[in-house]
Amino acid sequence: MTSKDNSKAALIDSLNGLLADTFALYVKTKNFHWHVRGPQFHDLHLLFDAQATEIFALTDLIAERVRKLGGTTLTSIGAISTKTTVKDEDDTTLDAMAMVKALFKENTAYVATLKTTKELAGEAGDNATDGVIDDWTDQAEQRAWFLREIMA
Ligand SMILES: [Fe+2]
Repeated sequence: MTSKDNSKAALIDSLNGLLADTFALYVKTKNFHWHVRGPQFHDLHLLFDAQATEIFALTDLIAERVRKLGGTTLTSIGAISTKTTVKDEDDTTLDAMAMVKALFKENTAYVATLKTTKELAGEAGDNATDGVIDDWTDQAEQRAWFLREIMA
């Protein structure tokens, strides 16, 4: 394999990890949309839903970047669970602010993963991925910002 092939393989792997995180973050955000309780119920129920919708819209874009690069992408819930770094939260009685904090942490980690993936896109000379990641980063930083201000 040439070093160019190596950079492309690393980028594909990173995009597949990002895709797994995107699906898992979508489910986690929806989980909190469904289970949030307390005085801030209405605002948080709506905010989590808006964020989940935005996150879900990224899945197809990420998977198709992988296919455009000639790679194969995720095929199943099993594949998602082996690749994601997003932590499962199955406690349906979690406090509303703990939900906000957990999503803030996950979206901040997501921004860091995007940064790594962008660096790999640069090394692989993939201008399209390099460019589109800027939008995905802006969205993730906005989600993190909204969540951070709720915790203030
Ligand atoms: Fe809903």
